[in-house]
Amino acid sequence: MLKTLICFLALGALGSAAAEPIVIKFSHVVGEQTPKGQGALMFQKLVEERLPGRVKVEVYPNSTLYGDDKEMEALLLGDVQIIARSLAKFDQYTKTLQLFDLPFLFQDIAAVDRFQTSPAGQKLLHSMERNNITGLAYWHNGMKQLSANRVLRNPEDAQGLTFRVQDSAVLTEQFKTLNAKAQRMIFSVVYQGLRTGVVNGTENPYSNFYDQKLYEVQKYVTETNHGILDYMLITTSDFWNGLPADIRPELEKIVVEATAHANKEAQRLNELDRQRVLEAKTTEIVTLTQQERNAWRETMKPVWAKFEKDIGPDLIQAAEASNQTQ
Ligand code: LMR
Repeated sequence: MLKTLICFLALGALGSAAAEPIVIKFSHVVGEQTPKGQGALMFQKLVEERLPGRVKVEVYPNSTLYGDDKEMEALLLGDVQIIARSLAKFDQYTKTLQLFDLPFLFQDIAAVDRFQTSPAGQKLLHSMERNNITGLAYWHNGMKQLSANRVLRNPEDAQGLTFRVQDSAVLTEQFKTLNAKAQRMIFSVVYQGLRTGVVNGTENPYSNFYDQKLYEVQKYVTETNHGILDYMLITTSDFWNGLPADIRPELEKIVVEATAHANKEAQRLNELDRQRVLEAKTTEIVTLTQQERNAWRETMKPVWAKFEKDIGPDLIQAAEASNQTQ
């Protein structure tokens, strides 16, 4: 009788444990029709298919749960379990990731990809472990373009303007080289900042430019491709290492697949959104000759020297080497 009762209680306990899935809250700041938005939804879908009842993913896009000023704190407090944060926004935790903000470092996203998948790139996923932050993967968005309400054809054209920047020392310095001002601002208020004239210009890939309707408040985009905006998908080491042994390997596989999806979507969506910006007919896309682009490079390149020591010259060299295909 006692045996039956113990059995019954044990089964009851197991039953209630099985009834409570592990909840992963995934918060981000962009819309769903963006590379990151699509990656997050794919992650959710694959978890639903492969770990039904065991893990439940809740996706909160568009800063609906936390903005980029609060998402790190929320992650570290355990209020969310996964975020995909721009590589520009980790200054506070590590200086090495400033690498990704150096202007004109990578020639295209293929080079970024080669670097991120190299041993040096993969090592950076663990650069914040002492802060309880584990990098799970890199997700692409794309190459950044400059925008303003005046034509930016030459570096001197940016003089005197105030540009919105992400929370990044490198990006702040980048605009100083142009004799412009940089204003750090969270993503969700960029539209408003541009509309009211608190800032006059900004930089982002076409995907974010379209997603935030910046074409309504910016007359010109200059196709500089001067830098990248990519993400690190992160969680806390405590959460990830504490996952049951039969769940974590499956989640790791899902991360790999969701990453491939987000990265494939990144190129498609940026091309599509460039087209949509053109179709909106409110913003002119200014393309540069090689000579004009070189002038931007020469003006911005001195930024590297200021951050070289913190980032590490070897790392910069390894990243530069990824521009070669061999
Ligand atoms: C930005 O602040 O411009 C971007 O980091 C937003 C994002 O997450 O793509």
